Amino acid sequence: MQYGKDVAKILVTREEIQKRIAELADEINRDYKGKEYTLVVTLRGAVPFFADLFCKLTGNKVDCDFIAVSSYGATTESTGEVRMSKDLSSPIKGKHIIIVEDIIDTGITLSYLKKLFEAREPASVKVCSLLDKPSRREVEVEGDYVGFTIPNEFVIGYGLDYDQKYRNYPDICVLAPEVYGG
Ligand code: PRP
Repeated sequence: MQYGKDVAKILVTREEIQKRIAELADEINRDYKGKEYTLVVTLRGAVPFFADLFCKLTGNKVDCDFIAVSSYGATTESTGEVRMSKDLSSPIKGKHIIIVEDIIDTGITLSYLKKLFEAREPASVKVCSLLDKPSRREVEVEGDYVGFTIPNEFVIGYGLDYDQKYRNYPDICVLAPEVYGG
C-alpha cells in the first residue's frame, strides 16, 4: 500500500517481518517440542503478530488465550498505569505459557502481566515480543524471544497504533513527528 505523509519511513518491511517470525517459530518449536503450551496474547496490538506466528507452530497441543490491557491513551507516552479490560478465559495454573506482545517499550505492561500471571502459578512463563525498544525501559524486564530491537522512534503498523489508527498497515513504520507534535 501507498503510505501518506503520516509515515516518516518504513522501519521493518512485511517481508522482513515474515522472515523473522519464521525464525522465532523455529526457535519455539525446538524449545517446546513435545510440550503442551498456551500463547497468551495481549489485545489489541499483538494480534497480527500472533496470527502469523501461531500458524507456524508445529506442535499439536498449542492453545491460545487473550487478555486486553492498555496503558497508552491518545499520546505517545505511557500513562504508567495498566488497565485490564478483559481477562483470560481459562486458568493457567500448571500450564506453560508464552506471553505474546507486539512491543516492549517502558516494560510497564509486560512487568504487570508477568506479575499477574506468575501469581496464578503456571508451570512456566516466557515472553515472545516482535519488537523491543530497550532504550525506553523504565522497568527491568525482557523478552525470551525477540523479533527486532529497534531505536527510540514511535512506530505504527502491523498491529501498533497511534490513537487507535494505523494498526492495519502491513509494515512497521515510523510515525511522522508532526502527527503527534513531536
Ligand atoms: C502497547 C503494546 C504493549 C505496550 C508496550 O499497548 O501493545 O502492550 O503498549 O508498552 P510499555 O512497554 O511501555 O508498557 P497499548 O497500551 O497501546 O494497547 P494496545 O495493544 O491496545 O494498543
